[in-house]
Amino acid sequence: TTHKVGYLIGSLAKGSINRKLAKALVRFAPPELEMSEISFKDLPLYSYDYDADYPPAGKAFKAAIAAVDAVLFVTPEYNRSIPGGLKNAIDWASRPYGTNSFTRKPSAVIGTSPGAIGTAVAQQNLRSVLSFCNSPQMNAPEAYIQFTPGLITDDGEVTNEATADFLRKFMQDFHVFIARVRSVLPKDA
Ligand code: FNR
Repeated sequence: TTHKVGYLIGSLAKGSINRKLAKALVRFAPPELEMSEISFKDLPLYSYDYDADYPPAGKAFKAAIAAVDAVLFVTPEYNRSIPGGLKNAIDWASRPYGTNSFTRKPSAVIGTSPGAIGTAVAQQNLRSVLSFCNSPQMNAPEAYIQFTPGLITDDGEVTNEATADFLRKFMQDFHVFIARVRSVLPKDA
């Protein structure tokens, strides 16, 4: 069976290195995973004032999460946490109260930064948020990718063989994780 995976790229920057990483992950995804990007750039800043009547962008974002079997977060670290845009998007998807789109939705977290600790602190922050949102997370492998110049081309070609092998394995493990979680979920989940 195939599984639909929606991926969120935490960065809105045109030259985002995390977008390059996401392209590499799409290339390495096993054929059973159907990869598609879920964009959050059109979402206004969330407030619960919207809960009574979600705007089209909010509805579309929640529908996109609902339509996939799993979510992959590919995020930079901004000031030792996740970018505000990504947190805003998660807040949108988690509401209105009682309609949290992440409940029982398997997820995985990965990211890259030029710094040596490669988004580790942001990922830890994101994992706390996803825990509260009741998303079953792939705990291992962890993936902290230090981005050196040219490591991944704009098209998502990985130039270092060890990194390529690691990312391929990450996507294979994510596939196994999704299949396992979904096999124990109720049919209507
Ligand atoms: C950064 N950067 C950064 N890097 C890091 O490893 N830890 C951090 O806490 C931060 N903080 C931070 C804050 C802000 C506001 C910016 C713009 C940048 C550097 C960051 O890793 C680098 O800009 C990457 O290129 C960001 O990834 P994207 O946006 O290119 O995918």
